[in-house]
Amino acid sequence: MNDWTTSHDRVLAQRNAEGWMFLIEAARDLRTTGAIAPSGTALARVLTEPVRAQAPRPLAVLEAGAGTGPVTRALIPQLSRGSRLDIVEANPRFAARLRHLVTTHPHLAARPTQVTVHQTYVEQLDTDQRYDVIVSGLPLTNFTPVQVERIMARYLELLHPGGTLTYFAYLGTRKARALAASRAEARRHTAVDEIMAAYQRTYATGRWTVWANLPPACVWHLRRPLLSTERPEPQFDGARR
Ligand SMILES: C[S@@+](CC[C@H](N)C(=O)[O-])C[C@H]1O[C@@H](n2cnc3c(N)ncnc32)[C@H](O)[C@@H]1O
Repeated sequence: MNDWTTSHDRVLAQRNAEGWMFLIEAARDLRTTGAIAPSGTALARVLTEPVRAQAPRPLAVLEAGAGTGPVTRALIPQLSRGSRLDIVEANPRFAARLRHLVTTHPHLAARPTQVTVHQTYVEQLDTDQRYDVIVSGLPLTNFTPVQVERIMARYLELLHPGGTLTYFAYLGTRKARALAASRAEARRHTAVDEIMAAYQRTYATGRWTVWANLPPACVWHLRRPLLSTERPEPQFDGARR
């Protein structure tokens, strides 16, 4: 067996183990975990595009809801000297896995303090740091409208003026919920979609569909305006909840 085969086998075994871990956590708490499998490389690439686009400028980056780390793995090689990455993950078992990923990543061997893992809810993150890019993996459509408003307001507060928030939502979840879930659940999902639509109308700079993901997902980029006078409240259509 040559070196390439063994390292390729190692990567496959690691992905397999992470797939199982994700599935076990989803079975434990599907609402917070938000999926049954980690994001694929195509989705991770579109989510991390604002970091790639600004290289080699030193950036402050926040990743919220990193899970087993597929997006983290796409982010780390993009971090130029002087950049920092804060990772926030609520699930203690995922956070431990992310700490292992960070401490063993070859790109970080000479710069161990460049990346920090915080095991907490992002809305409870206690920091004065402001970020150029926030990459969110949070399953917002599983949350209550109040939680979503709190998280979105916190994201905007954590961004530098001109900074970018990227996040994704799986395609077709609203229709699936309308068919399979209770009326109250369908109403909650619609209310969350309306909140997110208001943020998109006010702040969106781009939207991409990633078909090469299971399930396919839609990625949004939102930008916090440079001037505070340019920062309107998101405009909601009609009743919100
Ligand atoms: C849909 S998974 C995405 C995981 C990973 N980013 C990916 O793309 O595969 C959502 C992740 O967000 C975490 N999470 C959920 N709510 C959170 C919160 N309020 N703050 C921080 N992490 C949260 C979950 O534990 C889970 O790891």
